[in-house]
Amino acid sequence: MVRVNNPSSNLSKIVFYTRMDKIAELQRTMNLILLIVLFVAALIATLFSSYLSKKISTPLSKLCAHIRNISERKFNRIQIPADDEILELVDNINIMVEKLESYDLAQKTFLQNVSHELRTPIMSIRSYAEGIEYGVVETDEAVKVILDETQRLTRLVENLLYLSRLDSIEEPYNFEVLDFHELLHYVAMRMKGIAQQSGKEICTKIEPESVRLSGDEEKLSRAITNILDNGIRYARHKIEINSRITGENNIELIISDDGPGFDTEDLKNVFTRFYKGKRGHFGLGLSIAKSIIEKHSGTITAGNTGEGAFIKITLPVAE
Ligand SMILES: Nc1ncnc2c1ncn2[C@@H]1O[C@H](COP(=O)(O)OP(=O)(O)OP(=O)(O)O)[C@@H](O)[C@H]1O
Ligand SMILES: [Mg+2]
Repeated sequence: MVRVNNPSSNLSKIVFYTRMDKIAELQRTMNLILLIVLFVAALIATLFSSYLSKKISTPLSKLCAHIRNISERKFNRIQIPADDEILELVDNINIMVEKLESYDLAQKTFLQNVSHELRTPIMSIRSYAEGIEYGVVETDEAVKVILDETQRLTRLVENLLYLSRLDSIEEPYNFEVLDFHELLHYVAMRMKGIAQQSGKEICTKIEPESVRLSGDEEKLSRAITNILDNGIRYARHKIEINSRITGENNIELIISDDGPGFDTEDLKNVFTRFYKGKRGHFGLGLSIAKSIIEKHSGTITAGNTGEGAFIKITLPVAE
């Protein structure tokens, strides 16, 4: 080290002398340390990212396999240990599987029921037609049965088509503001004739005279007709139609009869497609009514009054 003073000023400088090979060695050591640090960091990053991708990809590939199984109608639930986001996905897939399973079952049951309902009248028509061919049945009786069964088949097919149209998203509902009580009077009047033919009476207590609601006239008439049709079949003497406005701005319609009432067992299922109890027909009328009422944001329930059956409908009044 050398100190150099500048005589013209107070400033001085210090000059260090050192061997360059030591500095070069220090530089080499530092480079090596940096290289090792870099290598370790890269190694840690690679290990961590492969751990992360494994953690995500393992449940995802399990899910993919599970989804492939679902497409082959294997409706098992899946449980895999995973992080929150993946767990949410797994839960949603399980909910979807549950729904798909119930649709699949409903479709199978529906097809079984339809084929059962179609087979019975077709067998009957066939056996009476064969009876005519071999001359073993009275022609008049056979013709009557064949005509009755054909009518039954036509009604069944009509109801099925109606129900499938109601189910489809494309089915147009012509919502318009209409007078619901006027519609009720009209349906009751049409059904009175049919009730009288079997010696029964339809009584109405519909107040106030006019109630406005937003609905599809044809479909609401169909729903009420289906309920009255049952009432006429089961009533001993009379069917009552009571309609009024309740406090919550709802229309409350109760159609009751003085028949045997619903069997306790039936009550849970009367709105299920093809469910029919004693003296039932196809078991479609009330499920059609339910579908229509719910499309009008209403509710429909069934019960017994103690003297017979009732169906209660609530519908919102138009604003
Ligand atoms: N007023 C009633 N009193 C007693 N039981 C009834 C009454 N209405 C319906 N039910 C029971 O509920 C079942 C379902 O009724 P729903 O109208 O859906 O079918 P259905 O009358 O048998 O056949 P359809 O498809 O021709 O209407 C009936 O089979 C019957 O057992
Ligand atoms: Mg019915």
